[in-house]
Amino acid sequence: MAFKVGLLGLGTVGGGVAQILLDAKGRSPLLQDVKLHRVGVRSLDKPRSVDVPEALLTTDLEGIVTDPDVDIVVEVIGGLEPARSLMLQAIAHGKHVVTANKAAIARFGPELFDAAKAKGVYIMLEAAVGGGIPIVQPLKQSLGGDRLNALLGIVNGTTNYILSRMAAEGADFAAVLADAQALGYAEADPTADVDGLDAADKIAILASLAFGGRVNREQVVCEGIRQVSATDIAYAQKLGFVIKLLAIAARQPGTDGQDALSLRVHPTLVPLGHPLARVDGAYNAIFVEGEPIGQVMFFGPGAGAGPTASAVVSDILNVAGSMQGRDRDGAAPLHPLLSCSHHDFFPIAPAEDLHSRFFVRFLTQDMPGVIGRIGTCFGDRGVSLESLVQTEVKGDEAQVVVVTHTVRQGDFQAAIAAIEQDACIRKVDSILRVL
Ligand code: HSE
Repeated sequence: MAFKVGLLGLGTVGGGVAQILLDAKGRSPLLQDVKLHRVGVRSLDKPRSVDVPEALLTTDLEGIVTDPDVDIVVEVIGGLEPARSLMLQAIAHGKHVVTANKAAIARFGPELFDAAKAKGVYIMLEAAVGGGIPIVQPLKQSLGGDRLNALLGIVNGTTNYILSRMAAEGADFAAVLADAQALGYAEADPTADVDGLDAADKIAILASLAFGGRVNREQVVCEGIRQVSATDIAYAQKLGFVIKLLAIAARQPGTDGQDALSLRVHPTLVPLGHPLARVDGAYNAIFVEGEPIGQVMFFGPGAGAGPTASAVVSDILNVAGSMQGRDRDGAAPLHPLLSCSHHDFFPIAPAEDLHSRFFVRFLTQDMPGVIGRIGTCFGDRGVSLESLVQTEVKGDEAQVVVVTHTVRQGDFQAAIAAIEQDACIRKVDSILRVL
């Protein structure tokens, strides 16, 4: 049986997918049965890097998702609309959906998965997180015997590229961002990447897979990298850390005795000995801790035509493999390791109850007793300190750097509020989390 693919979008990723489907030699034998049937584009006249037969091209995207001959709709147009509506229409017409659209899945996942379940079709999303890194199927299948406790990801290549260059060159954020934009590593509007929104979409998806519940994307605590300075990176290096934008999902005991999820994206001081500290440039990595497996890390290219297309095609193959030998229109149960069966939303720990180590850099007056006063403000609010050092004096101004033990965020914030009231403190110049 041939599986007919309707491809929505022939941009970077779509072009990569078409290239694989049109050149199956040397790949999985199952690909011989997968045919590129129609390709939806915005304009028929645009010059293309991929040689797709003109007869396959159409600007009628609705025609693809309602085409009775199409078995699998591959959505790689991105954005929220019309991607969401086209996927829903495809599902309503009994098509399986393969998508790379993290923003749509993170926001409309429940609606899309409910519709897919009702129609008995798959929604596959390996390409939505980590580009070419296999992480979605490993979480669904290979790690199914583990009780996962934490998942830490470098899941945004643009910010990892910027932070890596800032660390290597001692440069400031704005200068590296401008250069990254000129080189094509960052978009003209870099908001989704540098403000952590793209990483928040991805950790919402990964958390749902890793912890077996639905996740409300709006509850991801999210800070980007705009405020990370060359000074912070230099201090981090002196203390034995590198700064990475981490997307974190971890179990933590809730106030009612039930586990809650700590779900956040923020720049983080990562100890130099940690495997994530060595993930540089535009690469991605996802570090998973579970029982009994221990620690495992998935590393690779997190974006780009080839890697993302590789993930899309793996999903097409999984669907085609699972449907083989079945009557095309006959209802049959979905494979439980490919489909999504979550119903309930996972409880998310409120921001003030998150537990973390913190790095704080203060600008203070250089006078007797300042360090003691800072220490007392922390101690009075139950915030235990790992180190507190005066690192630099310029004129009458001193720089004091504090690293805390793991503390409750609410207690830490109360201590910072009290310190800010102290006349000796000129500025809390930066606050970062420490792994
Ligand atoms: N903007 C994303 C990144 C692309 O920088 O990682 C892949 O999702």
